[in-house]
Amino acid sequence: MKLGIVDMELASANYVVRLDTLAKATGVDPNKYRFGLRQEAFSIPALDEDAVTLGATAAARVLERAGQEGIRTLIFATESGVDQSKSAGMFVHSLLGLSTAVRVIETKQACYAGTAALQLALGLVSRNPSERVLVVASDIARYAVASAGEPTQGAGAVAMIIGADPALLEIEPVSGIWSAHIDDFWRPNDLSTPLVDGERSMDAYLGAFTGAWEDYRARGGFELAEIDFFVHHQPFTKMAIKGHRRLVEHTGKNVEESRVEPSLNYTPYLGNCYTASLYIGLLSLLHFKRELSGKRIGCYSYGSGAEGEFFTGVVQPGYERFLHPNIAAQEIAGRTELSFEEYRDLHVAHERGSAVNYSNSRKTRAPYRFVGLCDGARVYADSTLPIVTGTWNVHEGH
Ligand code: HMG
Repeated sequence: MKLGIVDMELASANYVVRLDTLAKATGVDPNKYRFGLRQEAFSIPALDEDAVTLGATAAARVLERAGQEGIRTLIFATESGVDQSKSAGMFVHSLLGLSTAVRVIETKQACYAGTAALQLALGLVSRNPSERVLVVASDIARYAVASAGEPTQGAGAVAMIIGADPALLEIEPVSGIWSAHIDDFWRPNDLSTPLVDGERSMDAYLGAFTGAWEDYRARGGFELAEIDFFVHHQPFTKMAIKGHRRLVEHTGKNVEESRVEPSLNYTPYLGNCYTASLYIGLLSLLHFKRELSGKRIGCYSYGSGAEGEFFTGVVQPGYERFLHPNIAAQEIAGRTELSFEEYRDLHVAHERGSAVNYSNSRKTRAPYRFVGLCDGARVYADSTLPIVTGTWNVHEGH
């Protein structure tokens, strides 16, 4: 029986910062970002957005199309979790009105957690093919200002329904894994931005790639020549190209970069979306390359710390009917551009503790918003409903 991705959709944040703007204000040659990193811009959330609202928006889109029937599990993958105990998925469960008979968990292993969620979901549906799993990968990549990582920030989410008889992509059973404890990128509990050893993180990404590839081959995975297109984790666009070149060098086989390029159309404008990044690359490939039916796609997932996995999927006949590239185009074009000063002010404003009550004015255009904290508890709302007033007043302009 075929198992895989039944439907998938993305969402991004309310604002965009152009890297030309950042470069000009900080005295950096804009070509470093444009050609050195192959990045053009990044998404940044409004104060009433977070990983929950981005994830809920993406999930609402797939559920509207595919329905809730058979969904027994919601797995929320993120490294932008909003609580140490409660799964971010529990807020999404409430916002989407899912049944009480749905188990909800959060997975974490840096950017790799989206793939961990996908593999767990496949395990669940192989046990009971009448069930489907809602996987939400959602993140806000926020680095310290004036750090090397600042131009690689970003924000976005991908929601996927995993089940039997997938309309988009059958995920094949063989996968290759490579894990080792490495301090390349991590975020201690009391910090809102990560600690990063940039050079080491790139080495770890590349080393985990060849390690995962070797494991994949040792377990009976396909040869390079049998894989038609590739999608690699995209912390910044150039990294996926570097990864591909390393694979070519490692295997000694010639694999043209034209087989990676179609997956690289969204990341330059959204920035790093951590757990969602690989799957945003997959959407780019499905949207931009035609006649993919029957083609095998190789996917490399990487999460700092460090873990890599290589797996393949086969695009299903008629897949085009289930794609909505207009949504991705609207997510990118519909953002509000920030000036350098507005961006840096917003970056500081996102630094908020949990000990106080606060309410956010309505900024997001998305269907769900993070209203604020009430006695330390996070309050979310459906943006389309009237703003709640009462003992705890929440209204515009606060
Ligand atoms: P940096 O020090 O700003 O950049 O840090 P650089 O000096 O190494 O330059 C970058 C590229 O720009 C180089 O190209 C330069 O030559 C070029 P390369 O040699 O690599 O091909 N360049 C120029 N090109 C044209 N015109 C110019 C010019 N100047 C320079 N004038 C770094 C770069 C990636 C380290 C930094 O952005 C960073 O720390 N980013 C965050 C960490 C990261 O993204 N690591 C990637 C692998 S780890 C990963 O993927 C996991 C992650 O997603 C987290 C998770 O798993 O949760 C990050």
